[in-house]
Order: sequence, then structure tokens, then C-alpha cells
Amino acid sequence: MIKKYIYGSPIETGAVVIDMFPENGKPDMFYEEDYKPNCLEFGMTDADVIYGLGEANRGINKRGYIYTSFCNDDPVHTEEKLSLYGAHNFILVDGFERFGVFVDTPSKITFDIGFTDSNILSIECETGDFALYIITGESLYDIVRQFRGLIGRSYIAPKWAFGFQQSRWGYRTADDVRKVVKKYRESGIPLDAVYLDIDYMERYKDFTVDKKSFPNFKEFVAEMREEGIHLVPIIDAAVKIEDGYDVYVEGVRDNHFCKTADGRDFTAGVWPGKTHFPDFLNSKTRKWFGDKYKTLVDDGIEGFWNDMNEPAIFYSEKGLASALEAANEAEGKDLDINSFFALKDKFTGLSNSDKDYASFYHNMDGKVLCHELVHNLYGYNMTRAAAEAFERFDPDKRMLIFSRASYIGMHRYGGIWTGDNQSWWAHILMNIKQMPSLNMCGFLYTGADLGGFGGNCTRDLLLRWLAFGIFTPLMRNHSALGTRAQECYNFGNTEDFKNIISIRYSLIPYIYSEYMKAALSDKMMFRPLSFDYPEDSFASSVEDQLMFGDGLMLTPVYTQNARGRYVYLPEDMLYIKFKSPTQRKYALLPKGYHFIDVALNEVPLFMRKNKLLPLCKPTDRTDNIDTSRFEVIAYADRPCEYVLYDDDGYTTDYDKPEHFDSIAIKEDVNGKLVIFSNKQIVKVSLFN
Ligand code: GLC
Repeated sequence: MIKKYIYGSPIETGAVVIDMFPENGKPDMFYEEDYKPNCLEFGMTDADVIYGLGEANRGINKRGYIYTSFCNDDPVHTEEKLSLYGAHNFILVDGFERFGVFVDTPSKITFDIGFTDSNILSIECETGDFALYIITGESLYDIVRQFRGLIGRSYIAPKWAFGFQQSRWGYRTADDVRKVVKKYRESGIPLDAVYLDIDYMERYKDFTVDKKSFPNFKEFVAEMREEGIHLVPIIDAAVKIEDGYDVYVEGVRDNHFCKTADGRDFTAGVWPGKTHFPDFLNSKTRKWFGDKYKTLVDDGIEGFWNDMNEPAIFYSEKGLASALEAANEAEGKDLDINSFFALKDKFTGLSNSDKDYASFYHNMDGKVLCHELVHNLYGYNMTRAAAEAFERFDPDKRMLIFSRASYIGMHRYGGIWTGDNQSWWAHILMNIKQMPSLNMCGFLYTGADLGGFGGNCTRDLLLRWLAFGIFTPLMRNHSALGTRAQECYNFGNTEDFKNIISIRYSLIPYIYSEYMKAALSDKMMFRPLSFDYPEDSFASSVEDQLMFGDGLMLTPVYTQNARGRYVYLPEDMLYIKFKSPTQRKYALLPKGYHFIDVALNEVPLFMRKNKLLPLCKPTDRTDNIDTSRFEVIAYADRPCEYVLYDDDGYTTDYDKPEHFDSIAIKEDVNGKLVIFSNKQIVKVSLFN
């Protein structure tokens, strides 16, 4: 059951797709203190576990820390950080009382989950204007499903976007890209996409292509498609100020940019130098900006990533002027601890400052609102602009689109990646923990920069990260300018990389099927163990294993120098250790703790009883996947079935019944368990 409550006068965010009448009164689980009118408090028992908050930092159980929803461009994701790029205000309380809470507000909101007082969960909304949804249900999963129904169907990516993708900030020319593709193809490591970071643009101007380094772009796009490669260009939120540049000229002429209090276009520095910020909260601006993607779409581009849309601001004109003035004043002076740090702070505080966010305005279709009040809707509406435009261009075609900043509601328009992580072991674990929380909030097409964005990646780190990444819908290796080359062929013996990524390709029909079923019926592909084993009191403390799809369990190795890891099995399971798509070892392991040996080039996977896993023949690109023939691994002692979803992967006709096929274990006339399917089953490995 879902109940809605209104506090103050909330700004419409578009997060929710079901119109509901608000209740009279207030939800009884929360108490409100007179001295804190914008704050809801809930008394937690010691045993309560709190899930949710999407992309947020730290554990799957969010207890013990404080989180602020305020889309934040911060590339150093250390444990003490309060905000990352997404603002996902959904939590799930599991304990004596069990309920979900969605606080729908586009401004800053803080969830103090037992940080200040270990048994108090407090939710403090800066403005006091919000819609509150309280969801109760028979299980955690049931509550999530109801919530997902409330916020609408998740974005569906094209099938090719489930292939392995290579990115790097620093592919400066078409030849750089050709070299990457050639090396991947030569080493036999499958690949489906190469990303174009800001280097492809002319002076970092959106919707331009540098003609010198990417001559005949359209032909180049077609040449890459011949190789089975999709090129995925980046689009940044801010628009360069440059005379004669159409996006700038039209934006100024037609009032598409955010304004200062005195009505001028707000100016701040990002990659290209001085820029203006499109007012994505305005429907006319969304239409105008969205239409701009057409030039690249006409060149054959079928996927984009939207970046810097928190929005990221390096400096504002005002902020920079004041820092420079302070620097001038300091010249020749004897700076002590206080004056030196005050000066330094003037510069370090220039980027993404609250002061700047409070200094410009949106015109939300007639309603003028200060940016700080609607900050969390900015990246969301940039991505919405793109998605709505793609629908106008071709309503039947799926495009790949994902964003860095997001708010719940954006999950209907695109996916997200988790931003600028680092080549740290801790960030593999962070990636693992973010996946189920993101799924709770509707973000299904998602993944992290595999290998890490910042810092220098090592061979072992990349292999371990890929061994988890083969399960995430977005499987992309991406790294920052100036870091060590991170493409898989740069780390010696490429066979190990080929094997791990080929395992992904043999799993793509299953991963795609699980993704589509999750999107079509509001399910989670990645779940904490406690969702599947609510009666198992130990399950809720396991944060480095995940339930995946229909009855699989992931147990990635995420520590340096480890030869394997301890795993917790909530019941007897089949252990499948992949060395390559076809070389596997199996073991039936009883409920409890086990140490499993996992070499750097191996992938561990567990399967619940009476489940099936179909695997296809691996190929070098998704175009070549044959979904008519499967090998099946089954762990069954009675009849059971796997429902395999498949479609053309390109069009939007998802719901047809013929997309659902059955691969089943049934009893034959002699009572023997045998496989039944209208797919060709080339081999069955049945364990019971
Ligand atoms: C931002 C993005 C990163 C990208 C870089 C350059 O830091 O998060 O992925 O490579 O900008 O465009």
C-alpha cells in the first residue's frame, strides 16, 4: 500500500507517474519536533536495517552515516563523502516495522541514519516543501516493486549496449580509435563500443566534431559499424560562449540559458572556458537542446553519455574575481597559517559552490525558481531532453543514453554510470554495493568505470573488476587523461582478458533477459541476500555478495593479493567456476561458510536449487550472438523452468508474448529429468 503526504508546497519533479490524493494528517511512524519543522524522525531499534539511497556512498545497509542528496561533481569517492552524483531519496526500513519512504523534493535533503544518534533516523529537507510517500508491503521486494510501479518503467537500452565497451579520456583522433579497435580485434577480446570523450569536439563545443582529428565523421561512424563497433560521444551540459557558434547564438537569442537575478545569462567556467547553462527545466529548452543531438544521430550515432550535468562548475565569474582579488591583496605579504589557508580555500572552494548554485535561475515553464531549489533536477532533465528527442526522431528505435547526475524519475529516460571512481580495490566493493541500491531506485542500466577512472590501474585490479563487471548491464572500461593506458590489451597476456570478457558474451542472452524482465515487471536484477532470504538473520550482514537475476549469486573477489575469498551460502548451492566460457569446474556446496579459490583469470558464480542457466557461444560482438542454440547448466531435482526473454534488441516493441521462451527441466515418461525447449539445446550439465 502506498500513502502520500504533502508538506508545504512541493515543486513538481516528475518522479512519480501515478496521480495520488494525499492523505489528511501525517504518517504515524515519524515524529516531528516543533524546533525542527523540516525534519522527520524515526526511532530505529538496534536490529533495523536501512536500505536504499541509490548511488550513495558506503554500505548496502546505510545505517551509521549521514547522506546528503545534492548531485555533486566530486571525483574523490572516499568514505566520508556525503554526496555523489545522484540524488535518490528512497529508503527502505527493515526491522520491527517494515516500510519504504520516498521523499520527493528537488532541493537538498539529508538522511542522518544513526550518525548523530545511533537509533534515530532523521530526514531533513532544506526547504520543508516535499511530497512524502510511505510504502508498506509483505516483503522488502514487494515494497520495492510497488515503489518502482509508482515511479514508472525503467529505461530500456539497446542490446548492443550489453556488449563490452572501451572508453578513455584522450582518444584524440579517428586513428586513435581505429588503433583501439584493431588491438581488441587482434587480441580476440570481444568489443561492441568505443567512447568519444571531450577530445572529439571542436574546442569542447557540444554537437561539434573536430574536423581535423575526425575528418569525414559520418564515414568514420559507418566504418566502425562495419567493424561491429558503436561510437558513443559525450555531451556536456554547459555551452561554450563563442560568437558564431549556433548553439550559443540560438541559446542567447531564444532565452534558453539560466539567468542571474538581474536577467543576464549566467556565466561560469567549465571545459571550454566560459559557458552558459541550458535551462533544461524549461520544456522549450529541452526540445531545442534535444533536437541538437540530431546532427550526430544523422551521422549514424546510436548512443550518447551526458556529462557534467550536476551541473559541474569550475568557477563562476564572480567567484573567480573574488579569489583573484584576494590573491592580489596577498601579494608580498607574510602569510601565516590562517591567511594562507584562507587564500587557498578561496581557490579550492571555487568549484561547485553553493553560493554559485544560489545565484542563477530557471524558468520552469513560467515559474521562476532559484537553481538551489531545483538542483537535483538538472542532469535528470538534460537526459530527459535527449530521450524525448530520440523518441521524436524515431519512436520505434532504442538509443543508448546515460547520465552522470540523476534524480529518481530520470530512470525512465536513461541509465547512469557512477562517475569518476579511482583505480582502487575499495572501489570494486563500492561498485558491488551500489548495484542493488540503484536497482531499488529504478536504475537498471548502470555500471562503474571498470578499472577505475582516476589513478593507475594494475593488471590484477582490472581482471578482478572485470570479473564483477561482466554482470553489470553497462560494462565499460573508462579512464582519465594522464593515467596509465587501461585498455585490456595493455596488460600482458591478453588471453585472460579474452576469457573473462568472453564469459560475459556467453552470458549476454541471460543478462539481457534478466534486465528486460526486471524493466518490464519492476524487478531488481541485483539484490542484497536478505531480499531472497528474509528468514536468514545472517544474510542482511553480507555486503560483498549479491543475488543476481533468477537464482544466481555473485561472490566477486575484490581484495588485492587474494587467492580467493570466503563466501556465505544461505542454502546448498551449485558452485560454477568459469575459467573461460566453456572451461568450468563445478561443486555442490552445502549451506554455510566456505573458502573458494579463485585465480585472477576465473569467475565464480553460484546457483540456487531448481534453477537453470542458459549460455550461448561467445562471439566477438553482440551482432554475432546466436540466440537459437544454448548450452544449459541446471541444478535441479524436480521440474523447473527458466523464462528466457529475447527480442531484436533495437525496437521498442517489448511486451509481445513471443519474446518469452521457456527452457524447462521436465520429467519424461520414465520419470527422468530431461530438458525441453524450442531452442536448440546443444549440451546440458544437470546437477542434483
Ligand atoms: C568527467 C567525466 C569523465 C570524463 C571527463 C572528461 O570527469 O565524469 O567520465 O572522462 O569528465 O570528459
